[in-house]
Amino acid sequence: MSVLEIQHEKLTSDILKLKEKRRAIILAHNYQLGEVQDIADFVGDSLDLSRQAANTNAEVIVFCGVHFMAETAKILSPDKTVLMPDVNAGCAMANMITLRQLKEMKRRHPQAVVVSYVNTTAEIKAESDYCCTSANAVKVVQSIPKEEEILFIPDKYLGDYTSQQADRKMILWEGYCPTHRRILAEDILKKKALYPKAEVLVHPECTPDVIAMADRVLSTTGICKYAKESSSEEFIIGTEIGILHRLKKENPQKSFYPASVLAECSNMKLNNLEKLLWSLEDMVYPIEVPPDTAQRAKRAIDRMIESV
Ligand code: 13P
Ligand code: SF4
Repeated sequence: MSVLEIQHEKLTSDILKLKEKRRAIILAHNYQLGEVQDIADFVGDSLDLSRQAANTNAEVIVFCGVHFMAETAKILSPDKTVLMPDVNAGCAMANMITLRQLKEMKRRHPQAVVVSYVNTTAEIKAESDYCCTSANAVKVVQSIPKEEEILFIPDKYLGDYTSQQADRKMILWEGYCPTHRRILAEDILKKKALYPKAEVLVHPECTPDVIAMADRVLSTTGICKYAKESSSEEFIIGTEIGILHRLKKENPQKSFYPASVLAECSNMKLNNLEKLLWSLEDMVYPIEVPPDTAQRAKRAIDRMIESV
């Protein structure tokens, strides 16, 4: 065994022992490093992870994802300790709308129902009527009475896709995910030329021209489930490249090609095994949400959790 393998084994066994002692559960997003996904109790998309956080019996949730995800877990399980191994793991898109900007939008559209993508801060959710993820945005929007005006924040691309699928006009905010915007239509064209039999699976945070070339538009777990069930052998994947670890692990006989290797979210890569161990050793970094904000945000989050 190499020194690195011995270190890896030691880290893994220390984490697992400490996890038992702390009565902790490790939740990891589909974009996390492979080593983090492999040690997690559960790997999923934002909706899966929120549901896991809401239903777990563990006393501690170690959340390996980005800040808004851990915050959502804390709002759903306020009596549990929610830890982030690296508290600097933010989401660039979530930072594209501030509370002041949302209040100003609401002032200009006083009758509008606010639907916020889960990729927002707790204080934005507290000012929202509904929350949704990429897995249920269309369903959430369709559940809102037709006569209501809808303000969809912050992702203009998910908003545009949802608006078309739900056949609803919406006021969109100008936010986007910089990672998904790095995937270009020409990248898809090049990969399709190289792998003509491959199905193209993309995330709805991609730009409309990329979405227009896709065979399926799905959340990250939606992509994993579809790849497993499809009879196709090859797939071009238009989302953050961390998902390739799970796709390859679950489908060793199939081939997965990233639409663009540039689609890497640096925040999602801040967690690793060392930080996970420190997190359990020192109980860092605890996520707190002011009770008043949490209470107001929970209404929108509950609507998201309940929407199938
Ligand atoms: P999912 O909910 O589909 O996992 O997406 C989360 C995310 O941040 C995508 O960039
Ligand atoms: Fe946020 Fe984009 Fe990273 Fe997802 S991939 S966490 S939307 S910056």
